[in-house]
Amino acid sequence: QDTHLLDPFGRRITYLRLSVTDRCDFRCTYCMSEDMVFAPRAQILSLEELYTVADAFIGLGVRRIRITGGEPLVRKGLTSLLTRLGARDELDDLAITSNGSQLEHMAHELREAGVTRLNISLDSLQRERFAAFTRRDRLDQVLSGIDAARVAGFRRIKLNTVVQKGRNDDEVQDLVAFAVDRGLDISFIEEMPLGSISSHERKVTLCTSEEVRERVEQRFQLVPSSHRTGGPSRYWQVVGSDTQVGFISPHSRNFCGDCNRVRVTAEGKLVLCLGHEGALDLKALIRRHPGDAERLRAALIEALRLKPERHHFDASEQVQVIRFMSMTGG
Ligand code: GTP
Ligand code: 5AD
Ligand code: SF4
Repeated sequence: QDTHLLDPFGRRITYLRLSVTDRCDFRCTYCMSEDMVFAPRAQILSLEELYTVADAFIGLGVRRIRITGGEPLVRKGLTSLLTRLGARDELDDLAITSNGSQLEHMAHELREAGVTRLNISLDSLQRERFAAFTRRDRLDQVLSGIDAARVAGFRRIKLNTVVQKGRNDDEVQDLVAFAVDRGLDISFIEEMPLGSISSHERKVTLCTSEEVRERVEQRFQLVPSSHRTGGPSRYWQVVGSDTQVGFISPHSRNFCGDCNRVRVTAEGKLVLCLGHEGALDLKALIRRHPGDAERLRAALIEALRLKPERHHFDASEQVQVIRFMSMTGG
């Protein structure tokens, strides 16, 4: 029972990002096209199938699971899945990445179910800008959701901000101030070219982590921090506060050397690297051989031999991977 998932580059996979739906109540411009078509329900893994997949990964040494979407909290019955996962002693961490829209009424039940960490997307504190990013006028709802999450008592809450030149790069100091005031962490993200979008030209709006950090440092003193979540973010502490400011820099600092993760899409596809098209159809396997845990386990071990060494995102090209971000949850 102590087989581990190892890839050909010696990286051990201990972290699973499990997408529970490709649907979302927002339409963020960097994540989806305006007229996004979602997968038919029959193609989406059932809650039982999601648990089967998670269980197989836990049996193979996965110790952290992050639930993603689309927007995971729009998936019906999610709490029952979370409660089952939350009860698994093997897991050090059960996290969710959410757009925050449902948190006002769900934060408490998520915490009760055993969710430890929460990441919430927030690209702007200005109503019109927020609406332009998400194509939905819901800033107030998200801010109330953030408040509800603070009250619910998660181990850590982190904001995620995709920074775009001319759209929100002048707001990064305000966002850090917002995080500091509330005892939250915040990560600034360089946009990745996933899926064909028409709202902006990614190579024009790309704002590097270096540029963001310089701006933040005009108002806050940052010192490099040893804080790690096992993910691509590199953190700096805001002096005089608890806040960790993270930078996720797929363009300016490749982090693939210590990748510890794989993804499963809501349709049950195992995605070995965010920056590659290839995927293995776990749903077909599970539905053809229901209850055959040994076969699933063997398939996962075998699949890991195909994990690519790294992504090759290049800001000069519009799209490198056809799959939209909403299909993998990032
Ligand atoms: P933890 O590692 O669990 O702390 O979370 P995170 O901050 O990595 O995850 P989150 O879901 O909040 O995602 C933030 C951003 O990081 C999104 O843009 C993700 O697409 C990106 N991201 C997370 N993991 C990877 C990865 O392995 N490769 C790439 N290229 N991007 C990633
Ligand atoms: N590039 C980088 N990050 C993205 N996200 C969504 N689309 C992209 C993209 N193209 C982020 C969201 C959310 C997380 C799951 O991924 O902001 O916080
Ligand atoms: Fe929805 Fe998150 Fe994608 Fe925005 S980034 S459309 S909130 S899944």
